[in-house]
Amino acid sequence: MSERNNHATVAVTGVTGALGGRIAARLAGHGVPQLLVGRSPDRIPELPGAQRRGPAAYADAPDMRKALDGASTLVLVSGHRTGRRLEEHATAVEAAVEVGVDRVLYVSLVGAAPTATYLNARDQWLTEQFLAGSGIRHTVLRAGFYTSTPAALADEEFVVSGPASTGRAAFVTHDDIADAITAVALDQGPRSEHDGATLEITGPEALTLEEAVTRIAAATGRPYRYETETLEQAFARRWRLGMRGDQIETWISWFQAIEKGEVSLVTDVVPRLTGSPATPISDAAWWPAPKTARGTR
Ligand SMILES: NC(=O)c1ccc[n+]([C@@H]2O[C@H](COP(=O)([O-])OP(=O)(O)OC[C@H]3O[C@@H](n4cnc5c(N)ncnc54)[C@H](OP(=O)(O)O)[C@@H]3O)[C@@H](O)[C@H]2O)c1
Repeated sequence: MSERNNHATVAVTGVTGALGGRIAARLAGHGVPQLLVGRSPDRIPELPGAQRRGPAAYADAPDMRKALDGASTLVLVSGHRTGRRLEEHATAVEAAVEVGVDRVLYVSLVGAAPTATYLNARDQWLTEQFLAGSGIRHTVLRAGFYTSTPAALADEEFVVSGPASTGRAAFVTHDDIADAITAVALDQGPRSEHDGATLEITGPEALTLEEAVTRIAAATGRPYRYETETLEQAFARRWRLGMRGDQIETWISWFQAIEKGEVSLVTDVVPRLTGSPATPISDAAWWPAPKTARGTR
């Protein structure tokens, strides 16, 4: 085990992305030695006390073993949806165990369940089950729906359209999620109260999409607005935009999960783990540009 300021080494994946990059920056700020793992090493951030490791995709066992060698804890940020995400995550976890990693912090999604309405939450549940059966010490960190997603889903006129009706979601910022996960990663004793736990990381309140989008408009000074769609309208508009069937299905299911109240739970995980209240949507520090949500182009 390599040590810097008496911290054990943490490997973080997804560091070229919005969440993993934030977690890595926070751990570096706490003086934690890190292995930053990515598929494109030239895009991995340079941080104090961190080695850049890769290229390593989750599905590539030898590359993952090489990238994770020397870590005690693995922060595994869930990968993009491929249809084989369980197998990819399982390969990454098995590679970690083979090189001596003894704790995995897995970033899952709120509402993860085999019958979840949001299709992306189903294989997150599969990975959670794999971890539960693997015997490795682990914590599941279920991230709430991102505050940033409605802004990224807007069209060039700043309109967010979808079949969410008046359902609610407890949108949470990337920064709050990163703070909460960092707190768990810093709890580096031989045992932690978070071992075996599933922590649902949510924002401070459950908002309808109309409320959320109205607040994004006020926060950004841009004319964002929400228009509810029927299922038929939701399909037809996305089909005209040239989206693939699986993309249409996945995004419609995102709105429907909100409509059905499957992502509306508000927890105290952010204040309990970070000591600060969860950030209201109006105070979010980062807004992506319209039309930048994955799988909408
Ligand atoms: N809670 C929510 O509302 C929500 C919304 C969207 C996504 N998610 C999930 O949360 C994850 C993190 O969110 P984010 O905002 O940080 O997404 P992001 O900015 O797209 O970053 C995803 C990161 O995961 C890496 N990655 C993806 N698939 C991989 C694979 N098969 N092997 C190795 N690395 C892989 C990406 O690497 P590259 O840079 O090489 O692509 C990137 O570094 C997403 O990947 C997704 O599973 C959650």
